[in-house]
Amino acid sequence: MHQPRSVLVTGGAGFIGSNFLLALVPRYPKVQFVNLDLLTYAGNLLNLQSIEDAPNYTFVHGDIADADLVRQLFDEHRFDTVVHFAAESHVDRSILDPLAFVRTNVVGTATLLEAARQAWGDRDDVRFHHVSTDEVFGSLGDTGAFDEATPYDPRSPYSASKAGSDHLARAYHHTYGLPVTISNCSNNYGPFQFPEKLVPLVIRNAAAGEPLPVYGRGKNTRDWLHVADHVDALDLILREGQTGETYAIGGRAERRNIEVVETLADLVDEHLGRAPGTARDLITFVTDRPGHDWRYAMDPAKIERTLNWRPAHSFEAGLRETVGWYLDNAEWLDAVADASYRDYYATQYDAR
Ligand code: NAD
Ligand code: DAU
Repeated sequence: MHQPRSVLVTGGAGFIGSNFLLALVPRYPKVQFVNLDLLTYAGNLLNLQSIEDAPNYTFVHGDIADADLVRQLFDEHRFDTVVHFAAESHVDRSILDPLAFVRTNVVGTATLLEAARQAWGDRDDVRFHHVSTDEVFGSLGDTGAFDEATPYDPRSPYSASKAGSDHLARAYHHTYGLPVTISNCSNNYGPFQFPEKLVPLVIRNAAAGEPLPVYGRGKNTRDWLHVADHVDALDLILREGQTGETYAIGGRAERRNIEVVETLADLVDEHLGRAPGTARDLITFVTDRPGHDWRYAMDPAKIERTLNWRPAHSFEAGLRETVGWYLDNAEWLDAVADASYRDYYATQYDAR
């Protein structure tokens, strides 16, 4: 059993990292959390307002690939735990600018692993948890599911860069004995997700009366998990996970994209008191994503069996709650969907 006392969280101003900090900073008042985040377009301190003055929380603006800064933070804070979220995370952006993904996801992860190795030597009372994705396993046909033994087969620049970072984390464990754990999780949804991703994008556009872009015929399938359930899985892995082990995390909630978009459209209409079907009329089939993976599904049997983890949210209840959150937090959506977002979105949409 590992008991964190001083935790470096990378990428804590992004979607999953901020949900992690919002849950764990109040849950563990005796544990110090340092959030290292570059505040790219995807990171926003607005997400963290409710904990910004907590005595056990510190924000550092900086780059995980800055070796001097990372070394200095290890010296200053004597971390015994790293939870590594920071990444370029959006597949469509990786198609536009792959090298940014190699830099942050591969070089940035290597920089953190090396700093941990230098600071920790052969200590075994420490943990480096690397947060990764099911996309490293490639694309499934209509049946089957990924698990911890599935061979890697990444197919986008994003997933290839995440696969590279997973391999480095595993290599540091095998070569240097660094106490590493890795998790590969399916698609998350919930509060504070940047509105380039399908769920918040569709909620925002449905509310604004703008087109709901569905790639291809909308038949691709993703396996959805509420971000709070992912956060609870990570908390368990940190404390009770075995070093050197990988954990597959998923909600056993596979849906075709078109089903997700139709459900979101109906929930937005319901929440806004509109006539049923209003938002469905906005659905627009657009040019497919190049190399679009067909289907992802995760088999989380190992984390269920060994750590007794179960998701608390059903997809239906979680999606309803999520729609309510975005519509009740329109000012957050307006603040993050700034001019650079609108430029990106316009380029993407024109290209379809
Ligand atoms: P996100 O894009 O919302 O947030 C990424 C955060 O990292 C941002 O705050 C950004 O400012 C920060 N960041 C980017 N480059 C940085 C750098 N060089 N130095 C420091 N900070 C930097 O991402 P997310 O959706 O929260 O994903 C977090 C992690 O979880 C990623 O590693 C991603 O691969 C993984 N993951 C995401 C999902 C999902 O569905 N979103 C599922 C499985 C795994
Ligand atoms: O599976 C985990 C991964 O999930 C994470 O590792 C990534 O960081 C995260 O971005 C997510 O990747 P996806 O590519 O699956 O998420 P996205 O929200 O971009 O798209 C979900 C599905 O919806 C995908 O099949 C593409 C489709 N899509 C997406 C957008 C943005 C559309 O049909 N229309 C859209 O406008």
